Amino acid sequence: MERVLLLLICFLLLSQPNNCSSSLSFNSSTPRCHSHQSSALLHFRNSFSVGDSNGFCDKYSYPPKNSWKMGTDCCGWDGVTCDTMTGHVIGLDLTCSRLEGPIHPNSTLFSLRHLQRLNLAYNEFYPFAISSKFGGFANMTHLNLSWSSFAGNVPSETSHLSKLVSLDLSSNHDFSWNYGLRIETPSLKRLVQNLTHLTELVLDTVNMSSVSPNSFMNLSSSLTSLSLFDCGLKGRFPDNIFHLPNLQLLHLSFNYNLTGSLPTYNWSSPLKSLLLSSTEFSIDLPNSISNLKSLKELYLSRCNFIDSSNPTFLSNLTQINSLDLSYNNFGGQFPWSLLNFEVLTVLDLSYNNFIGQVPDFSTNWTQVSSSNSSSNSQSTIQIPSKLVYLVLSDNLLNGTIPSWLYDIPSLQYLFLDNNQLTGHIGDFQHNSLVDLLLNNNNLSGPLPLSISKLVSLRVLYVSFNNLSGNVESKIFFRLKNLEYLEMSNNPLLSLSSFTFATNILPNINYLRLSSSNITEFPHFLQTAKYIGLLDLSKNQIKGNIPKWFLEGGKDSLYFFSVSRNNLTGEIPLLICNLSSLQYLDLSYNHLSNMIPPCLGNLSNHLIDLDLKSNNLHGTIPSTFAKGCYLRSLKLNGNQLEGSLPQSLVHCRELEVLDFGNNKINGTFPLWLENLPSLRVLILRSNNFHGAIGNPKYKFPFPNLRIIDLSHNEFHGHLPTNLFKYLKAMMNASVNKGELKYMGDNYYQDSVIVEMKGFSIELVKIQSLFTTIDFSNNNFKGEISESIGELQSLKGLNFSHNNLTGCMPPSLGKLTNLEWLDLSSNKLIGEIPIQLTDLTSLEVLNLSENYLSGQIPQGKQFNTFMNDSYNGNQGLCGFPMTKACGNDEGQQPPPSSTIQEDDFKFENGFHWKVVLLGYGVGFMFGLGLGYLVFSSGKPIWLVNIFYGEQGNNVQRSKKNARGRTH
Ligand SMILES: *[C@@H]1O[C@H](CO)[C@@H](O)[C@H](O)[C@H]1NC(C)=O
Ligand SMILES: *[C@@H]1O[C@H](CO)[C@@H](O)[C@H](O)[C@H]1NC(C)=O
Ligand SMILES: *[C@@H]1O[C@H](CO)[C@@H](O)[C@H](O)[C@H]1NC(C)=O
Ligand SMILES: *[C@@H]1O[C@H](CO)[C@@H](O)[C@H](O)[C@H]1NC(C)=O
Repeated sequence: MERVLLLLICFLLLSQPNNCSSSLSFNSSTPRCHSHQSSALLHFRNSFSVGDSNGFCDKYSYPPKNSWKMGTDCCGWDGVTCDTMTGHVIGLDLTCSRLEGPIHPNSTLFSLRHLQRLNLAYNEFYPFAISSKFGGFANMTHLNLSWSSFAGNVPSETSHLSKLVSLDLSSNHDFSWNYGLRIETPSLKRLVQNLTHLTELVLDTVNMSSVSPNSFMNLSSSLTSLSLFDCGLKGRFPDNIFHLPNLQLLHLSFNYNLTGSLPTYNWSSPLKSLLLSSTEFSIDLPNSISNLKSLKELYLSRCNFIDSSNPTFLSNLTQINSLDLSYNNFGGQFPWSLLNFEVLTVLDLSYNNFIGQVPDFSTNWTQVSSSNSSSNSQSTIQIPSKLVYLVLSDNLLNGTIPSWLYDIPSLQYLFLDNNQLTGHIGDFQHNSLVDLLLNNNNLSGPLPLSISKLVSLRVLYVSFNNLSGNVESKIFFRLKNLEYLEMSNNPLLSLSSFTFATNILPNINYLRLSSSNITEFPHFLQTAKYIGLLDLSKNQIKGNIPKWFLEGGKDSLYFFSVSRNNLTGEIPLLICNLSSLQYLDLSYNHLSNMIPPCLGNLSNHLIDLDLKSNNLHGTIPSTFAKGCYLRSLKLNGNQLEGSLPQSLVHCRELEVLDFGNNKINGTFPLWLENLPSLRVLILRSNNFHGAIGNPKYKFPFPNLRIIDLSHNEFHGHLPTNLFKYLKAMMNASVNKGELKYMGDNYYQDSVIVEMKGFSIELVKIQSLFTTIDFSNNNFKGEISESIGELQSLKGLNFSHNNLTGCMPPSLGKLTNLEWLDLSSNKLIGEIPIQLTDLTSLEVLNLSENYLSGQIPQGKQFNTFMNDSYNGNQGLCGFPMTKACGNDEGQQPPPSSTIQEDDFKFENGFHWKVVLLGYGVGFMFGLGLGYLVFSSGKPIWLVNIFYGEQGNNVQRSKKNARGRTH
C-alpha cells in the first residue's frame, strides 16, 4: 500500500513538469538558432527508436514534439530553450518522449555545450550507462535523468557539474538490483563536496547498498530537498542533515536497514515533507515531530516508535495534508479532531489497532479550529473537502460509515476493509471514486443502486459482509472501467439477476464470487476479454463448464476456480486452450471420465492443478515435459488407476503431490527422491505395494515434511535409511521460525492428513507442519533408533502393521511430537521412560500390542486414559486398573484432560475449533480454513491463524504494476 502512495506522489510530481521553456519569452529580436545546433538536436532525437508509450506518461499528455523540423528555428521547437542574447540552446526537455536506445559518448547531445537545463526523464535508455560526457556541461544547473532505465555506475564526472542546483538520477532497479543505477562512496563524497549550490538532490532507488550514509554529512546548506527512497542504505544516517537550515523535503523511506533518530526537544526546521516509512529510525513522539509547524506531509508507515500508544503529537501539526501512519501499533481512538480537514488530502491509518467510530460531523462534532482561523469558525462544520485517499483498512473500527464520507467530491480511494463496520452502504454523491474497498466488515442491507453512477470505479470489494437483497445488473451498466470485483461470502445476497446479465463489465480482470449461492456461470463472462482471475468456488453451479466460456479466447486467464460446486460431465478438452492458466481448481465436484491428457502439456505454465474429490477415472496424464512448472498436483479422492507417471521428475518445482484415495498401483516412487522442493507426498489408500527400497541419494527427499503412505500394501522393513537422512524433518529448531503457509498470494495448498486420530483437511498447510503416517500396511521388523533424529515431527503413525521388537527410547527425542500412534502391532517390552520428555504429546495410542511393565508416570502421561493402552495384557499402573508390584501406579488421575474443542499446539500453533454441522460442503464465511472429519462425522471449522488472504492479491498486483513502468 505504501508503494501505491508513492506512485501517487510520482504522478502528482509528474503532473507539474519542470517546464523551463515557459519562463522565457521570445520576441522577434530573438536570434535564430545556430544551424549546427538544430542538426545536433535532430541527430540526437533520431538516434533513438520510438518505444511504447510509458505507463507513467500515459496519464498526462505531453506535447508531441512534431515541431522539430529541419529548416525551422530550433529555438521555437517544443522542449527547446535558447539564450535570448546569444541564441545558444540552453534548455532541453524531452520528458516522456518514448525515446529508446543508448546515449553513446559520441552523441550529438554533448555538442550542445551551453546546456543549463536538461531533462530526459521517463524514456528508455535501458540498459545503458550514463556517459561520463555528461560531466562536461560546464554550466549545467538542472539535470534530470530520472526513470529512464539507465544502468551501471553513476559516473564520477558528475561531480564536475559544480554549478548544479538540481540533480535527479532516480532510477528504477528491479527488486534485487540486477539492473539500475549504482553509486559508490567515493563518487558520492566528491559529488556532495563539489556541488555546493545544490538545492535539490534526488537519487531515489539508486543502489547505495555499499555507501556509507556518512557521505551525506557535508551536503550544501542550501539544500531544500533530499530524496533517497529505496536505496538500500544501511547504517546510521547523519544527524546533522535534520538541522540543515533550508531543508523542506526529506524522503528516506524503504531503506529497511537505515537507522538514526530524529532530534528531540527544540528541533525547529522548515521541513514540509518528512517520509521515513519502512526504516529503522527510532521515532520519539511527540518530542521530536510536534515542533515541525510547517509539516505538510508525514509518512511514518512501519516505523519504530518509542511510544505508539496514541498519535496525540498531531495537535501542533495543523498544516498536515498527507499523513501515513499505517502498519504500526497505534491503538485507541484516533484523535480525529486534531486533523485539519480543510487541507487533508491523504490519510492512511491502515494496519493499526484503532478502535471506535469514524466520527459523524453532522451530530456531536466540533472541529478544533486551526490557530490562524478566526474564533467564530468553531461553529462551522469542516467537512474534508480535499480528501483524495482515505485508507482505514485493518483496524478495529466499528459503527456505521459516517454520512460525510459519501459527500467528498475529490475522494478517489476509500479503503474501509477489514474493520467491524455495521449498517447499510449509503449513496455516494460524487463519481470521483476509483477504488472502493468495503470487504470484511459487518455491513448489511442491499448493494445500493447509486453505485451505478460511480463511472470511474476500478475496484469494488464488498466480500465478507452481511449484504442482502438482489444485486441488480443495472448497477453495472455504466461501470465500464471496473476491473476488480469481489462480492463473495454475503450469504443473503442474491446474484442471479447479475449472473444472467450480458454485456456488462467489459474490462473485468479479477472476479471473486465465492460462496454466493450462484447456480450458473455468469453470462457476461462471454464478452470478458481480459478476465485474469475467476473464483466461482463454493456455489451451486450445475452441469459442465460452458463451452462458450472456454472458446472465447480467454488468453489472460491465469486463475480459475470452480471448486466445490455441482459440476458434472467430463473435464472439457477446451480447457487446454487456456494458454495463460496457472491455477486450475476443479476440486469437490462430480466430474467424471478421464483427466484430459493435454492437461499434462499445460505444465509449462500450470502451477497448481487441483482435481481432488471428483469421480475421475483412467490414468494420470503422463506428458509432463522438461521445464514443467507444476508446484502442486492434487488428485486425491478419485478413481484413478495405473501407476504414477515418471515424467513427474521433470517438474522440479513440485512441492505437493497428493494422490490419496484412488486405485493407483505400483511401487513406492523412490524416483521422486531428488525433487528439491517436494514437501508433501500423500499416497494414502491406494494399491501401492512392495518394499520402499533404498534411496540412491545420501539426502533423499531433502524438503519432505508430510509423508502419508497409509492404507496400502507396502511391506518389508521400515525404511531406516530414509528416516536417517530426511533433512527437513531433522531440525527441531526450525519449528521456532516464522509461520508460513505453503502456496502463494493466489492459492493456498490444502491437503487431507490424519492428525490426532482424525482425518483433517488442512486448508492452509503450515510450511513446517511435519508428519509421517505409514499406518495400515504390512511393514515388519523393528522401529529403528534413527527415528529419533526426525526432531521436527509433530505426528507419527505406524499403527496397524506387523512391527516387532521394543519401542526405541530415542522416541523421547521427538520433543515436538503431538501425536504418536503405534497401536495394533506386535511391540514388546516396556514403554520407554524417555517418552515422558514429550511434553507436547497430546494423543498417544499404544493399544493392541504386547507391551508390558509399568506405564511411565508424570507430565503428559497423567493425561492419557485407558484407551491409549488397551489390549496390552502386561501393562500396569495408572490409568490401568491393574496395579504394578509397587504402589506408585495407583495415584489418582490429575484433573487436566484435553479439551476436544481446543487443540493447542506448541510454538503458537493454535487452532480454534467450532462445531457447526453436518455434511461435506457446508461452508462458513470465515475463509480462513476448516477441518473436515472423515465421512459421516461432523464437520468442524477451524480458524487457523489470522493469515492475510484475498486482499494481498490486489495489493501485490498494484505493486507489481507500479514497478513495471
Ligand atoms: C557512436 O558510437 C557507437 C558505439 O561506440 C557506434 O555504434 C556508432 O556508430 C557511433 N556513431 C557515430 C555517428 O559515430
Ligand atoms: C558558462 O557561463 C559563463 C558565465 O555566464 C560564460 O562566460 C560561459 O561562456 C559559459 N560557458 C558555456 C559553455 O556556455
Ligand atoms: C569540482 O568542480 C570543478 C569545476 O568547478 C572541477 O574542475 C573539479 O574537478 C571538481 N572536483 C571533483 C572532485 O570532481
Ligand atoms: C537488513 O539487515 C538484515 C540483518 O542484517 C538482513 O538480513 C536483511 O537482508 C537486510 N535487509 C535489507 C533489505 O537489506
